[in-house]
Amino acid sequence: MNTASGKPASGQSDHAPRVFDFLVIGSGLAGMHYALRVAEVGDVAIITKRQATDSATDWAQGGIAAVSAPEDSFDAHVEDTMNAGAGLCHEDTVRFVVEHGPDAIRSLRKNGVEFDPPREPAGPDAPEFDLTREGGHTQRRILHNKDATGREIERSLLARVRAHPRIALFEDHCAIDLITATRAGHNGANRALGAYVLEASTGEVHAYTAPITLLATGGAGKIYLYTSNPDVASGDGMAMAYRAGATLANMEFMQFHPTCLYHPQAKSFLITEAVRGEGGILCRSDGEPFMQDYHPMKDLAPRDVVARAIDTELKRSGDDYVVLDITDKEPAFIRGRFPMIFERCLKYGIDITREPIPVVPAAHYCCGGVRTNEQGESDLQNLFAAGEVSSTGLHGANRLASNSLLEAIVYADAAADESIRRLPAIEPTGEIPAWTHGEATPIHEAVVITQNWDEIRRFMWNYVGIVRSDRRLSRAQHRIDMLREEINEYYWNFRVTPELIELRNLATVAELVVQSAAFRKESRGLHYNLDHPERDDERFGRDTLIQRGDAPWISPT
Ligand code: SIN
Repeated sequence: MNTASGKPASGQSDHAPRVFDFLVIGSGLAGMHYALRVAEVGDVAIITKRQATDSATDWAQGGIAAVSAPEDSFDAHVEDTMNAGAGLCHEDTVRFVVEHGPDAIRSLRKNGVEFDPPREPAGPDAPEFDLTREGGHTQRRILHNKDATGREIERSLLARVRAHPRIALFEDHCAIDLITATRAGHNGANRALGAYVLEASTGEVHAYTAPITLLATGGAGKIYLYTSNPDVASGDGMAMAYRAGATLANMEFMQFHPTCLYHPQAKSFLITEAVRGEGGILCRSDGEPFMQDYHPMKDLAPRDVVARAIDTELKRSGDDYVVLDITDKEPAFIRGRFPMIFERCLKYGIDITREPIPVVPAAHYCCGGVRTNEQGESDLQNLFAAGEVSSTGLHGANRLASNSLLEAIVYADAAADESIRRLPAIEPTGEIPAWTHGEATPIHEAVVITQNWDEIRRFMWNYVGIVRSDRRLSRAQHRIDMLREEINEYYWNFRVTPELIELRNLATVAELVVQSAAFRKESRGLHYNLDHPERDDERFGRDTLIQRGDAPWISPT
């Protein structure tokens, strides 16, 4: 019998399965919020491949969008989200998420998260918080904690997770593959039963089993050479769900954040869009603003428009970067509102109160992912997904800024409600085949992994980036076809390591992005193809779906 990974299952097992009521893979906002909710009724394991704080949540600067000002409305937030999404948002999902915004904020505050209060003394009708603006928003509606909102959320929730008697947190544990009933040789309907997990410190692989599994593994920015994402963003949840047979949606819509710091020593450092929300202006190297040439909302146009505008400017001028200038603001305001960015730029010799910041676009957010329903469940029974790994229908072809933390908590809640309701009726997981390393030997040349990893990230950047073409996409597919064989050979012949697991996932997700992008022969939102520059609603006005063993297709609904 083969296990989920394809590794032989006969022979000696490393360990007996570790049995829980709920298995959560990932330790950002979605995973921790869900775990804290379901721990009301059962025992929870959170698996996270590095330290718990190594998550995209921890890196989120801007904030969380939620209607709270008297002049704002749910309708306006829905409209802004749909406008950014370029015709692919699911309106019912958008309304569901937006209308749950105030509850989400209450729930975060109950868990100890603090948001900045208004800067001016507030009157009786004034909002309780300082609200900022970002691209695509017609109102100030983003709650934040200075420029480190995600860190505030991560630390507050993590303190509660660590203290909870029914939650066990396994750091430096890397999920390899989902265990499903079919692959475990059980009769009856297919369903998720848990995951095989590599314990990095010992090299042992354990089966973690649970009636319900939540994927909360975040995104896949590391498939690109330049990204705002932490190193953990290698698309693990998307790749595991795909291998297990779940449907994924809209993988071609990779969002590029317009402004990451350009500096030889700065790796993946974002300059939040809130800098533009507070008056920062994008300029060419000669100091001339340019966004007025591209969109009526200028520097606060939706993110796809701004990223493409910068790409066009750089290609035209041959410069390495454009600049973001906020020096018009008082230095005390800049230091108080953006303390983390101020400090980090100063470390690289840039005083942002006196000089503009060199910036470039970088891969930032996967708008596609594991397709889920209103309860956050995938089409593999008892496999839920929340946060960036999922595709709920909220973001469409382009995510509105600061909607992602909101989506993560709203869908983690929906998944928790459904999981709590369903748990008592789920049959036990039954016997699970043990993982064995079979004949595999330790990897002797790690350079093969780094070489393949570098190659993927570079051709994805060059061929499947902000501007694509049919020829570039077919070149990318060709490269992937060659790498796939090499990576599979490695996977089969050598003992798994976290690096090999990540490389395998990275290659899978890169291929899903390429295939989905090549299939969508139009331009819309984040997907821009020089050979098909127009939007084609008739043929491509719905989600792209993809499932193992099939070519991509357009969702019938
Ligand atoms: C930012 O702070 O600009 C990022 C916010 C987001 O991606 O939603």
